[in-house]
Amino acid sequence: MVLFKVVKQETKAIDGQKPGTSGLRKKVTVFKQDHYLANFVQATFDALPSDKVKGSNIVVSGDGRYWSTEAIQIIIKIAAANGVKRVWVGQNTLLSTPAVSAIIRERVNSHGEKAYGAFILTASHNPGGPDEDFGIKYNCENGGPAPESLTNKIYENTKKITAYHTADGIPNVDVTKIGVTSFEGPDGTFDVEVFDSTEDYVKLMKTIFDFTAIKDLITNPKFSFCYDALHGVAGVYAKKIFLEELGAKESSLLNCEPKEDFGGGHPDPNLTYAKELVQVMGLGKTQPDEIPEFGAAADGDADRNMILGKKFFVTPSDSVAIIAANAVGAIPYFSGGLKGVARSMPTSAALDVVAKKLNLEFFEVPTGWKFFGNLMDAGMCSVCGEESFGTGSDHIREKDGIWAVLAWLSILAHRNKQAGGDKLVTVEEIVTEHWNTYGRHYYTRYDYENVDSDDAKKLMAHLVDLQSKLGDVNNLIKEIRPDVAEVQEADEFEYKDPVDQSISSHQGIRYLFKDGSRLVFRLSGTGSVGATIRLYIEQYEADPAKIFEPSAEALAPLVEVALKLSKMEEFTGRSEPTVIT
Ligand code: G6P
Ligand code: ZN
Repeated sequence: MVLFKVVKQETKAIDGQKPGTSGLRKKVTVFKQDHYLANFVQATFDALPSDKVKGSNIVVSGDGRYWSTEAIQIIIKIAAANGVKRVWVGQNTLLSTPAVSAIIRERVNSHGEKAYGAFILTASHNPGGPDEDFGIKYNCENGGPAPESLTNKIYENTKKITAYHTADGIPNVDVTKIGVTSFEGPDGTFDVEVFDSTEDYVKLMKTIFDFTAIKDLITNPKFSFCYDALHGVAGVYAKKIFLEELGAKESSLLNCEPKEDFGGGHPDPNLTYAKELVQVMGLGKTQPDEIPEFGAAADGDADRNMILGKKFFVTPSDSVAIIAANAVGAIPYFSGGLKGVARSMPTSAALDVVAKKLNLEFFEVPTGWKFFGNLMDAGMCSVCGEESFGTGSDHIREKDGIWAVLAWLSILAHRNKQAGGDKLVTVEEIVTEHWNTYGRHYYTRYDYENVDSDDAKKLMAHLVDLQSKLGDVNNLIKEIRPDVAEVQEADEFEYKDPVDQSISSHQGIRYLFKDGSRLVFRLSGTGSVGATIRLYIEQYEADPAKIFEPSAEALAPLVEVALKLSKMEEFTGRSEPTVIT
């Protein structure tokens, strides 16, 4: 067996290693600097209880973006030197973020031991490649992202680090081949196990969904679907699940070969970046001859999803509401009922209406999946979602792109079985029926990316300042758009976690209108350059006669108010948003 020694490598603290909402994300060029990744990994081990790290199993993998293989080799050596017993790696460095969460919670080694945590190598929906983004985030024993108390500790450690431990004598491990490679160090054997990226995840999905019912739908000649992995890691899972398990045709899969630069694209499943799928589904400029019944896409690390019907877009806010409304009955995992439901603050209130009608516990949390994790660990929440194309449940502690697609396929299968007719029930019919029952939340999000940070802060400060002058605000509205309701209340969202009582303040600026409409402004926590301003616009319509307007038309008055109120162009110099979703 190959022997290794532990060596202490001197280093210096490097600025700017504060993890954001989803870990540390920087350009590859930043990560490639000497000691940059090593410092962060050591700072993480130092922030964890050392008796837990010693002898532990740790997962290390990600979305396969550029520089993943190099990063894994660095982390393997530091893990070995810090007393980790076994590193679990998905074949070819690939594990989706939800699969990592599932692996932490479900997988056991030959001694029956689970993983203590994971380093997930991803920058999610940000582009990859030598000049693009890389990222690393740490997930804990419950399978969810590290809480702020831990990421703060990691950050503090990065500021005072002077040395890290690494293994001398461990060669680069071949991560393309399944198998275990063992090394002998001062604390005994250290193993690197490379395994099939899909096995644990697929096993879990089969305990949640009725695969036979979904297969019946997928193989029905009247049904057709298209799944676009945008060259992210989802492709690996899509092939296994949709093709092998559920009998879909190979032509149903688009961009399902993972690429380290995502084929030069922006792996974010929305109407702007998932261009090919949008075209296939009949939402582009030209109409294809045949349009599939159902379409879906994922982001780089496969935790996000976009759901489309034939020429029809399902907003993520509607998607979670519809899943919650249909879960019991359509999805075996929920046959005992839902423990509760939750959404992030900027997500539309479509879920609130479902919760009220079905008498479910409901929670509104700040943006960021970790807040749902706390509720789920306490058994208070079964289904949750965010406007940012994230949907999930308490089967793991991350949002789950493939799960969301399987949930929709389950609903379609269930509805079709119930209807029993010749014609298939469509996505559009399910959504419009939902609006008829619950009312419709017209919703859109405007993103202003890479704005000068100072300008963005000034805009936000201006909006906070206006909150104490609602008289002026309402006068302005009357002047420019008398058809818009008055602002009733305005505040900055603050959340008290019902489980650990921790308080998160300044989670977004809200303007709440008398008719239930909302404007929300927040700064993104996931960008890697400059600031991104997000503006969320929502309007509720309960009248079934008024639920079929094009969203952009219905929201035009509120948009105008939002832009004038915030002085968007004045502060940022932008007359148009970068992306509208
Ligand atoms: C990540 C988190 C999500 C969150 C999103 C917000 O994807 O996992 O939970 O909704 O970031 O991103 P933003 O850029 O709006 O801060
Ligand atoms: Zn992601």
